[in-house]
Amino acid sequence: MATGKRDHLKPKLERLKTSFKNPLVDIALTDYQRSLGIKPRQLENLRQKSDPLADECTRALHVKPGTDSLKALDEYLSRPLEDQASAAPRKFMEQVTTTPNWFDAELLIQGQNVFWKYLLVIGLILTHYSLVMGFAASRVTDILSCTNYFSSVKGAFQRVIETVKFVTDIMSGPEALTPLTGVGWKSMIRVRLLHTQVRLRILAQAEKRPGIYDVKELGVPINQEDMLGTLCVFSIAVITLLRKIGVYMSPSEVKAYLYFWCFTGYLLGVDEEYCQKLMTEAQAAAIGESIANHLVDPDAGSVFMTHNLLQAFALFLPLGVHVALARLLVGDKVSDNLEIPPSKWYWRIITSCCLLGLRWMSCSTIFLQKRIDFCRKYFPLLVDYYLQRLWAKNAFHKPVACDFVLKFLPHIVAEDPDDGSKK
Ligand code: HEM
Repeated sequence: MATGKRDHLKPKLERLKTSFKNPLVDIALTDYQRSLGIKPRQLENLRQKSDPLADECTRALHVKPGTDSLKALDEYLSRPLEDQASAAPRKFMEQVTTTPNWFDAELLIQGQNVFWKYLLVIGLILTHYSLVMGFAASRVTDILSCTNYFSSVKGAFQRVIETVKFVTDIMSGPEALTPLTGVGWKSMIRVRLLHTQVRLRILAQAEKRPGIYDVKELGVPINQEDMLGTLCVFSIAVITLLRKIGVYMSPSEVKAYLYFWCFTGYLLGVDEEYCQKLMTEAQAAAIGESIANHLVDPDAGSVFMTHNLLQAFALFLPLGVHVALARLLVGDKVSDNLEIPPSKWYWRIITSCCLLGLRWMSCSTIFLQKRIDFCRKYFPLLVDYYLQRLWAKNAFHKPVACDFVLKFLPHIVAEDPDDGSKK
């Protein structure tokens, strides 16, 4: 993150800022796709954009680390109007409780159903592709490393379980996204305010110690491009990879799944204009591709986090399976750069057999509704079980529910340009 570490990368970063083609990204854009995507210069502009409404709100709330931001917001808004020094929390609450004019409750429910129908394969893609591709963007890992994100195997395990918890909350059912009461709505607002706390704290440090984090070069922490890119790896990339595995969603399923993530992006603070662009498959694919071309640039931090992530998965199944799966989904070029080694033949065979089995299950209509209901009912219980086990071992933070609070104070780790040591 330090200027020293970045100096030798400057020519590469300069190229990424202007080029449409990244040698690590397999598919180059056709002229037509490029016209639907976002130009590198525009993406650079998006890197300078944060989530101003939530930022203002967080500044007014003064949320303390380890405390529930949603509770702080409720408390602030329950004060008499004259005691509310800032109007930002009220405006923020208005935005997150007002549905946009493109809101479609039926499509949201269908989107959730699609998730449960393909749960196992989508889960594998989210964990072995989406997270790993996020790490391949070094400008994203720079931010993640500030909060000890994936800095140890145990930490990685906790973060993965919490992210899975977030996804199961927002997918849990029709009432999950009801403003003020829905479990998924609450999680989204908490995560949005968590992102804002991280952003503001990093910016404050960058201002105090000039040269440590160059906002112009790296972008505002958790900026619009990063969030849009994350949405793409959760949505359109999943659809594309399902096809690669041989699982074909119907056009109405594709529409509903994309719509679900567009709405999620809206509540998480992604600009409405860009959320809406992710609703059609062609445009979402083009945007995902242009962001991948612009951002994929793995560095040592990317390698470190990827390895911790895969080691964390090894708590469930042998490491060989995860390595083979990640390499298969992410592709050879990015895998080589992330130092995900080629797998032994037997891991490749085992992984392919597992994928074939999952493919068969996903395409089969036998007991379909029963299977969906089973997953919807029991999978969240399994996630809660793992969370409870983690919390039981955590001496410092023992929440009763997953409240997505700021656990690690963001700290920019600077590297000495001469010897590479951390300071
Ligand atoms: C828009 C899509 C995104 C979603 C759905 C999402 C989801 C989440 C969730 C569920 C958490 C809480 C669980 C945890 O602490 O691991 C979280 C925390 C976090 N996210 Fe995101 N995220 C998104 C985008 C991003 C981006 C683009 C960045 C960075 C560039 C980022 C950085 C972070 C950080 C640093 C934390 C940890 C804060 C802490 O616990 O200290 N997120 N995110």
